[in-house]
Amino acid sequence: MKYKRVKGTRDILPDEWLIKDYIEGVVKETAYAFGYREITTPILEDTGLFIHSVGDSSDIVTKEMYTLQDKGGRDLVMIPEGTAGVCRAYLENKMTVWPKPVKLFYLQRLFRYERPQKGRYREFSQFGVECFGSKNPLADAEIISLANTILKNLKFDSLELHINSLGCPTCRKDYREALVTHFSENKQHLCEDCQDRLSKNPLRILDCKVRSCRPYIDDTPKMKDYLCEECKTHFNQVLELLASMDISFVVDDKLVRGLDYYSRTVFEIISKDLGAQGTVLGGGRYDGLIHRELDGPETPSMGFAMGIERITMLLQNKVEELDLRNPNPDIYISNFGGETAMLSLKIAQDLRQNGVKVWVDLESKGMKKVFDLAEKRKASYLLVLGEDELKTGKCSIRRLSDRTDFNVELQKISLFFDKE
Ligand code: HAM
Repeated sequence: MKYKRVKGTRDILPDEWLIKDYIEGVVKETAYAFGYREITTPILEDTGLFIHSVGDSSDIVTKEMYTLQDKGGRDLVMIPEGTAGVCRAYLENKMTVWPKPVKLFYLQRLFRYERPQKGRYREFSQFGVECFGSKNPLADAEIISLANTILKNLKFDSLELHINSLGCPTCRKDYREALVTHFSENKQHLCEDCQDRLSKNPLRILDCKVRSCRPYIDDTPKMKDYLCEECKTHFNQVLELLASMDISFVVDDKLVRGLDYYSRTVFEIISKDLGAQGTVLGGGRYDGLIHRELDGPETPSMGFAMGIERITMLLQNKVEELDLRNPNPDIYISNFGGETAMLSLKIAQDLRQNGVKVWVDLESKGMKKVFDLAEKRKASYLLVLGEDELKTGKCSIRRLSDRTDFNVELQKISLFFDKE
């Protein structure tokens, strides 16, 4: 074969699409139930948008962006995440004057130049939500409840919610200093990335997966001991609200997230069945992003995004429990060419207008093969149109499950399916 897929990308074949379609239906339905409205932003955005929002010390910006220059010399990026583009769209489309909070959701394809492995691709899809304009802990709790409801509606019951507070820029400054002091003593033992993080963003060291770094991470100072009164109250209220909705959670001191825009609440939902790439969904508050980094008005905001491929992988093990679209034809119509072919297309058209799924043989096949093919296509009924049917205006429709034949007038085939 001359050409192959680009490394880290995937072809989504029809069976996977059935699951993806189902997921998309559930997430949209649930998001609308929480008052969210859909938005799509472009795949291409200004590179600067991500440097300023996701952060110039994040892995996404330093290592993973697909950047390009267009013919007009513009520096563009194939978006690595959805939040920054939605924030840009919020400002550019003057949604700042809409009644608050503004609640938006998206289904988006994203690109990150990561090391591909199971559950981690260079092109992938996310369902995400962003809620602009509320700093109330109720907003945090409602968003987490949305994530939880989506996963329940997708029939998951054993996922774990991890939550933490990263505080505000003021209290985080003290925490940052405490981390620098703590890690500086063992700087030479940290991996190269962490040595770099120590000066740029020491919080990210807590997230390091390199085994040799773990012993130095286990006994680090904890953010919760550095939270200011306001951040502490906010976090406690979020936890209380979650408990009042019977949403169980684990407070995870090491949860810092890989994007620089977060403040206060951050959370992830994790599956044990996906190995190393077990995070199915992650998000948090980003109260400073719109004002500080994008020159917009003060807009406390929060959101999360869910990896569609990871959810699909988990659902693949239980497709029988899901209400997936059935792609199989209700009826398979075969013919002997000429006028019988014309008639099959006409009958198919009438049936399809009435919502019946029809497979018409586009090449006439021998009688022997037709039964086999109809069964292979998993059709429910078979109709073979020949000269006799043309002459008499009647046909025999076979139910393939029990091989029962029904005599039906050609004019009344739609009626027959209405009754079946
Ligand atoms: P994120 O944690 O980078 O957050 O991504 C969210 C989810 O996308 C992950 O939990 C994972 O399920 C999926 N994901 C990430 N990278 C890949 C990949 N390479 N291959 C397959 N799936 C992947 C964000 O993107 C934030 N924008 C979320 C957010 C929205 N925060 C606030 N609002």
